[in-house]
Amino acid sequence: MNFSLSEEHLMIQQAARDFAQKELLPGVIERDRDQKFPTEQVKKMGEMGLLGMMVDPKYGGAGMDSVSYVLAMEEIAKVDASAAVVMSVNNSLVCAGIEKFASEEQKMKYLVPLASGEKLGAFALSEPEAGSDATSQKTTAVDMGDYYLLNGTKNWITNGGTASYYVVIAQTDPEKKHKGINAFIVEREWAGFEIGPKEDKLGIRGSDTHSLMFTDVKVPKENRIGEDGFGFNFAMAVLNGGRIGIASQALGIASGAYELALNYAKQRKAFRTEIINHQAIAFKLADMATQITAARMLCFKAAVEKDEGKDISESGAMAKLYSSQVAMDTTIEAVQIHGGYGYVKEYHVERMMRDAKITQIYEGTSEIQKIVISRSIAK
Ligand code: CAA
Repeated sequence: MNFSLSEEHLMIQQAARDFAQKELLPGVIERDRDQKFPTEQVKKMGEMGLLGMMVDPKYGGAGMDSVSYVLAMEEIAKVDASAAVVMSVNNSLVCAGIEKFASEEQKMKYLVPLASGEKLGAFALSEPEAGSDATSQKTTAVDMGDYYLLNGTKNWITNGGTASYYVVIAQTDPEKKHKGINAFIVEREWAGFEIGPKEDKLGIRGSDTHSLMFTDVKVPKENRIGEDGFGFNFAMAVLNGGRIGIASQALGIASGAYELALNYAKQRKAFRTEIINHQAIAFKLADMATQITAARMLCFKAAVEKDEGKDISESGAMAKLYSSQVAMDTTIEAVQIHGGYGYVKEYHVERMMRDAKITQIYEGTSEIQKIVISRSIAK
């Protein structure tokens, strides 16, 4: 077992850290306030290879390993959790799924622009009445011979208003339940595809969340991913990897808030000394540092197992369950350490506290992670 990062890993970490400081930090408060998508910044992330990090270079990706992905995600999320979720969805839910399961033609047509950052992708599984219970899909795709006719509504779709290509999960044969579900690549411009208004969210306000409406959208047969009926297993496999991305986002939110709280505690004086010299504050920071280190180890473990080709349903779920709890706990305490300053936008930690909450909800709530973990350990 080796706990050291390689030279290459350290370089990637530094590059992502520099990018976050230079490009994401300026304007992050305003983007949160105005719900403004970081368009220019995401374009630059694409140029740096951050949007298709693990994709083979022959499909436009950066060909890096999953540990590099965890490192870069943490650095981006430390500063801007909204930019981090854009990155996570494109990498883990869209590119990874297409690279692993789509046909060569689909990869050349869709993966190359998505992995190179020329286009952005979205993953459309959740529905008004199918969130945690993902097999209860109401969106239908009826086989019409050469094409499927897609009808239904998807909710809370990250990158919903900015994506060009959408991986859409739909029911093709309700009698077969989850074996009658398929995944399709749908293009934004197709007739009958409408994007709903932007959601006004508590956190990750710079990211772009919409509902999607499909009315008799004609999806060519060749846009189905995998064999008929593979869509639910596809979604589950993709989400296992996605959970590493969100775990790393949560880790970044936590470590960003911790660093701000530590610096503040070293400078701020109360009762004639820096507040870090008060045990009430020092112990909070000690807990944060310990929990963040543990969360990082869980993220690395899942990432290494992914690259080894192991089943990561359990390790991905553990990483997400724990890191998202650490993000919540750490950001709440970071606000507390900052006192009144923590409650105003200028000091960043109140935004981080709001951003942290979603990591316990999307890509499977904490309760769903416990279902996945408990089923795995019971096997
Ligand atoms: N990995 C691989 N396969 C899995 C799996 C996993 N973690 N969990 C279930 N499966 C497979 C099962 O093996 C089974 O396949 P077979 O029949 O071929 O054996 C199939 O899926 C059905 O499994 P279950 O009978 O266990 O299904 P279930 O109805 O009990 O539900 C669940 C399982 C784990 C609760 C699942 O519904 C789930 O993960 N729900 C949460 C959905 C979710 O994460 N949504 C997030 C939306 S995306 C998002 O948030 C993106 C964003 O914008 C940021």
